[in-house]
Amino acid sequence: MIGLLPLTLLLFSWGPSVNAGSVNYGGACSVGNQKLAAGTYEFQADCDSITFCNSSGLCDHKGCRSDEYPLGYPTSLDPPPRCPTGMFCPDEEDQCLPLLAVGSPCQFDRDDECQGPPNFQQLADTTGYGLNVNGSVCLNNICMWANATLGNTCVVENTAYTVYSANNESIDIVSRDNCSPGLYCDAQHLVCMKTKNKGDSCDADKECSTYNCLAKGVCGRSANLPHHVPFWVYIIVGVCILGGMLATLAGMYWLHRGHRNAEREKRLQYWREQNAFRQNILQMQETARHSIMSLSGGGPHSPRSTLYSRDGAQSEDSQIPMLNPTSKSSALRHQLSDDGSDDGSQDSIMIQRVDRKDSNKF
Ligand SMILES: *[C@@H]1O[C@H](CO)[C@@H](O)[C@H](O)[C@H]1NC(C)=O
Ligand SMILES: *[C@@H]1O[C@H](CO)[C@@H](O)[C@H](O)[C@H]1NC(C)=O
Ligand SMILES: *[C@@H]1O[C@H](CO)[C@@H](O)[C@H](O)[C@H]1NC(C)=O
Ligand SMILES: *[C@@H]1O[C@H](CO)[C@@H](O)[C@H](O)[C@H]1NC(C)=O
Repeated sequence: MIGLLPLTLLLFSWGPSVNAGSVNYGGACSVGNQKLAAGTYEFQADCDSITFCNSSGLCDHKGCRSDEYPLGYPTSLDPPPRCPTGMFCPDEEDQCLPLLAVGSPCQFDRDDECQGPPNFQQLADTTGYGLNVNGSVCLNNICMWANATLGNTCVVENTAYTVYSANNESIDIVSRDNCSPGLYCDAQHLVCMKTKNKGDSCDADKECSTYNCLAKGVCGRSANLPHHVPFWVYIIVGVCILGGMLATLAGMYWLHRGHRNAEREKRLQYWREQNAFRQNILQMQETARHSIMSLSGGGPHSPRSTLYSRDGAQSEDSQIPMLNPTSKSSALRHQLSDDGSDDGSQDSIMIQRVDRKDSNKF
């Protein structure tokens, strides 16, 4: 299938290493060895990538560069300058030369070496597919203008490039012509025809205004066009993201509900215990105050005085729920009792103090 692949794409397809020579600056070279590599049409010479073969047959520093980013130039070296408007840098990159007049010989695929037509603004390629440069085109090594009109004869140059992929190589035929923008040169009749729209049948990329003739033989969308996703896809993706977030939240809530309830129950139990404990202590204080008051009035063998004595059976009973944590207490109570900072231990100290006070009296 004949395709008019943009040359810029071919520059990016990676092939076998750089074809620059190995002779360094000052070394002997032969201008006769300069040629274009088969398949890639890359310029080849004896000299390395930073020198060219000068007229004395020696490798000399390059005087200009034809690419913005020259291949094989070390980053430590400043590359030679690009040529100003009205001049071009030939493949040899020896020096800038003035643009060539129409009909002059030019180097392969170097439309930029040719002078533009007077009506260059109309003829210049605006598609970005590399049809011409400023309205001029180098076909079969002759500078032409891309001014052939609809139904008129045109010139074609077909070039077979070798396209390298990761583990394969294939042939891609690029067909270039001098038809004006919006037209292509028909391969059989060599007349300019109107480019076809998307969906029309085609035999080659150049026939399509989108430059993409699909394998099934119809013009497809432009190969360099970015893919646009319809708006409803954004909505669905957004809803899915939101739904996922909500589902995660609900799942976590459901998962932690049991644990949360158990914690709440524990806290409630702890509170009840503490409340009961407090009531107990208040009661105890009250009782102690009463017993002290009655001591000052009544005799030492008053029935109340035995209430908090260590061996009194009655006092033992009343102390059990407060001093023995194993009887009926929550897990939280255990934790707090361990570090000794809870009210329980202070209470027990207080109770002991009350005991001692009582026993001292006896
Ligand atoms: C060719 O290059 C060499 C350096 O390699 C230089 O000495 C010589 O003058 C150059 N010849 C011409 C004609 O520029
Ligand atoms: C295009 O060609 C015209 C005519 O030769 C010239 O005046 C103009 O500078 C060129 N434009 C560019 C961008 O090379
Ligand atoms: C079209 O371009 C050719 C050179 O390729 C030139 O000789 C000819 O005069 C141009 N025709 C018109 C109408 O400009
Ligand atoms: C290599 O490319 C050619 C042409 O596209 C194809 O017919 C062939 O099957 C490919 N071979 C491999 C191993 O991919």
